Amino acid sequence: MTELKKAGLIFISFSLLQGFVAALNCSSPTPESLLHALEKELFPKNILRPVKRFSDSVNVSMTMTVVGVLGVNEKQQTLTIFIWQVLEWHIDGLSWDEKECGTKRVSVPRENIWVPDITITEIIDEDKSPKFPYVYLHNTGLVIDDKPVRVVSSCQLVIYTFPFDVQNCTLTFASFLHFATDIKMFQGTTVAEILKDSLKVMYTRGEWELIDIKAAPNTLDIFEESFSELKYYLILRRNPNLYIVNLIIPSTFLSIVDLFSFLLPPEAVDRAAFKMTLILGYTVFLLMMNDLLPVTGNQTPLLNAYFLVSFALMVISLLETVFIMNIQFSSSNYSPVPPWLSVLVLRYIAIAVCLPPQKKSNRITVSLQPPSGAMKTSSRDLQSISGNTPPVKPPPEPALDELRKLSTDLMAIRQNIDNHFLGSKTSQEWHLIGIVIDRLLFGLYIIFIFISFTTILVLWYSSY
Ligand SMILES: *[C@@H]1O[C@H](CO)[C@@H](O)[C@H](O)[C@H]1NC(C)=O
Ligand SMILES: *[C@@H]1O[C@H](CO)[C@@H](O)[C@H](O)[C@H]1NC(C)=O
Ligand SMILES: *[C@@H]1O[C@H](CO)[C@@H](O)[C@H](O)[C@H]1NC(C)=O
Repeated sequence: MTELKKAGLIFISFSLLQGFVAALNCSSPTPESLLHALEKELFPKNILRPVKRFSDSVNVSMTMTVVGVLGVNEKQQTLTIFIWQVLEWHIDGLSWDEKECGTKRVSVPRENIWVPDITITEIIDEDKSPKFPYVYLHNTGLVIDDKPVRVVSSCQLVIYTFPFDVQNCTLTFASFLHFATDIKMFQGTTVAEILKDSLKVMYTRGEWELIDIKAAPNTLDIFEESFSELKYYLILRRNPNLYIVNLIIPSTFLSIVDLFSFLLPPEAVDRAAFKMTLILGYTVFLLMMNDLLPVTGNQTPLLNAYFLVSFALMVISLLETVFIMNIQFSSSNYSPVPPWLSVLVLRYIAIAVCLPPQKKSNRITVSLQPPSGAMKTSSRDLQSISGNTPPVKPPPEPALDELRKLSTDLMAIRQNIDNHFLGSKTSQEWHLIGIVIDRLLFGLYIIFIFISFTTILVLWYSSY
């Protein structure tokens, strides 16, 4: 009886001493011998978590290296990256003597041992990672599972500042099934090292640049039903060159041409046609760049606002040209310029826009003589002319009649010319007003372009 108890005690203490598996004994330092030992001791237990007691947790340490950022899909709000993921954990009790078995480590098929079900929680697409069948088994019981993973993860993308956007995407490594009491996650290396290694091996330098990796503090609260997880934040910055060259610079060129088209004289119909052509060109440009712009439901990039502002400015400047042309060409149908408008525009605004204050030309002032007095004067003049002539024979009656008729005709012509000058004075004043207003609006246009573009540039710069 006591013998039996003793044997039981020995067995219990023995089984407490040894772990999940016992130390392996190889008969010879050959692979067959080690395989035989593994097949006998370890492989049959591949469905069990490699711990001695249920209360023990498997401690999995994880290291990752970002190998490439394959792309970002703004519409689906996903990030596709390629990483190397290294998991390390211990099989409780497993060990063998290096000399006895002939090796320190051996690779075994992953089906033959228990492997933790670590995944990235944000994965939302099927796993297209290449499959690797082996893991490394070390004679200390350490298991190393090193594999590449292609991750399509969901990521809240902020495209407001596109193409100068910086994205912050989260990767959470955790067991999908096991609670924190069963599997605990630990960081294999520091984030600084992860970043350094990643930058060293990243050969896919496409549109995205990895600028930082941050780790969330590892909260190891071991409640009954919590999960142990490792959270990494990848900070990615877009390379904006493509968009600057293809979108922003051409658009700016068109805006500049539009600005300089103000230097064309407004009375030439060309200016309106020119601006119309520009708007047409800009429309084509907008159609083409539609493919390059990211689209999402909830946000509009600032770049769209930039294009909209440019387009709006072109339309406004075309309307302005139409307005000025209307003033200058149809002004003959207008009533004379109201004096207050004339004073306001030609005196004050003209000075404000650096044009000399406009004066009425001499020719017009002369023509302002009252035509009724002119008739008398001219007939008197005619008589005085005839009177002042050297004493010759007075002209015969028919000649005098002829002269009188001529004088009446001249008066009529004079009247007509005066009327014409009066009308042309009105239209000339409108013309001058048109020039001043055109100059004023040109100034306002420049100021507005300057302010709006500076605002957008500042917003971009502050976000970069
Ligand atoms: C290997 O040998 C040691 C001591 O020689 C023993 O304690 C252990 O149980 C053996 N392992 C197996 C799996 O038989
Ligand atoms: C796992 O880590 C916990 C906490 O650090 C520790 O108490 C436990 O012994 C470790 N388990 C193993 C199997 O090493
Ligand atoms: C990234 O986002 C997480 C939350 O989603 C936040 O805690 C973290 O500070 C962000 N990192 C940076 C650098 O903005």
